[in-house]
Amino acid sequence: MEKDRVPTGIPGLDKLIQGGFPRNSVNLISGPAGSGKSLFGIQYLYAGRIFNERGLFFVLEENRSNVVRAMKNFGMDLQAYEGDGQLQLIDLGEIKLVNEEEKGIVGFQELKDFLQSSLKTTRARRLVIDSISAIGLHYRSLEDLREEMFTFIRFLRERDLTSLLITESIEGMGLTRYGIEQFVADSFIVLGLEEVKGELRRTLTIRKMRFTKHDTGKHPFLITPQGIEVSSNEKVV
Ligand SMILES: Nc1ncnc2c1ncn2[C@@H]1O[C@H](COP(=O)(O)OP(=O)(O)O)[C@@H](O)[C@H]1O
Ligand SMILES: [Mg+2]
Repeated sequence: MEKDRVPTGIPGLDKLIQGGFPRNSVNLISGPAGSGKSLFGIQYLYAGRIFNERGLFFVLEENRSNVVRAMKNFGMDLQAYEGDGQLQLIDLGEIKLVNEEEKGIVGFQELKDFLQSSLKTTRARRLVIDSISAIGLHYRSLEDLREEMFTFIRFLRERDLTSLLITESIEGMGLTRYGIEQFVADSFIVLGLEEVKGELRRTLTIRKMRFTKHDTGKHPFLITPQGIEVSSNEKVV
């Protein structure tokens, strides 16, 4: 492993991005519902085992037992991994409840406070937030959202941490939920789900990655019993 790259561990992907995410970067992945974003995130954390890098997964829009259950189907035993102290899945449902009286949903500031204490106890080097889409609802204006997101991303970058933020795209509404996330992050990967002759085709495109000579093609990928596998040699138009 190169010192300045963090392998995603997703078969076929790392060779498209010079071996992995830039170390200490903040990466963004977007795609419609069912496109494989959560699976991508868990695979990234799970690969941390190989490099002895602990993982932290913040669940915002589902509950942790669903995540554990879904990943069992791909042969990933998250509970055992948690038992070893290598992974922590944190259900943010609880802090959402606390804030419900105020504005209904946590903002980046609360997330940062929470993260700060979690990082202290877990000493995680890989972080996934699934997802940041709902956080935008905490803000009255796009300006406020942009500013707080920017501050939050800067905070992440200053840690010894390589992060992946997940955001859900809505069909016909652009690549990301708020249209600003991709400008603030260091990298931007888009998962696609297209209907071709009555079948769904999954694709992955690296739209941007700082400090990286990356591939720009739209690559088909499969979800196999082992998870996401990107066809790095194939491209679709
Ligand atoms: N055992 C499986 N084998 C193959 N594909 C699966 C399996 N389980 C789930 N999937 C596919 O993976 C998708 C879920 O991916 P997920 O990461 O939850 O998507 P997202 O987080 O983008 O909504 C499902 O919509 C389904 O198409
Ligand atoms: Mg998901």
